[in-house]
Amino acid sequence: MLPNFVLVGFMGSGKSSVGRHLAALVGHRFLDTDELIVDEKGCPITRIFADEGEAAFRAIEARVLRDLVGVCGIVLATGGGIVLDPFNRERMREIGIVAWLDADAEVLYERVSRNRKRPLLQTEDPRAAFDSLLAARQEVYTEASDFRVDSTGLTHEMAAKRIFEQAMRFKRAQDSGCG
Ligand code: S3P
Repeated sequence: MLPNFVLVGFMGSGKSSVGRHLAALVGHRFLDTDELIVDEKGCPITRIFADEGEAAFRAIEARVLRDLVGVCGIVLATGGGIVLDPFNRERMREIGIVAWLDADAEVLYERVSRNRKRPLLQTEDPRAAFDSLLAARQEVYTEASDFRVDSTGLTHEMAAKRIFEQAMRFKRAQDSGCG
């Protein structure tokens, strides 16, 4: 039985699109913490941030993640800020192998600039907000994940394959006691 896969990474790294491909590749069910939150609240994330604030969003995010501990056969895409909470980082490791999906900063920024779905970037200077969040989070993604995959220049399908290969390599090393 293949393990679960958890995808972490910055906004625009392609966690949801790549996660869907990975789920199809391994025959797992695809889940996305942002989608689970939106379904539960019945409104978009921008509205949750506007009406209830970021702390309320983070509390729901942590609970949604907790509820997935023990569920098998899933590929889970997560919101970019889920790694900030050390308890969430522990939960993700309980759930499965944690892959950090990354890309060049310019690629990430180009992707997140295509729409206004990210409340944390709805500021007077979105590029400055983006740069400071990205810098602050690099270390946390490193700590939260078992390995990193750079998706710059890769199709979603290629990135999914790369994650699968690295995860299997990671698992083999872990099983042989050399992890
Ligand atoms: C966030 C990323 C978003 C979403 C929310 C907060 C973040 O998810 O959870 O807007 O703190 O980086 P994506 O990474 O899917 O954009």
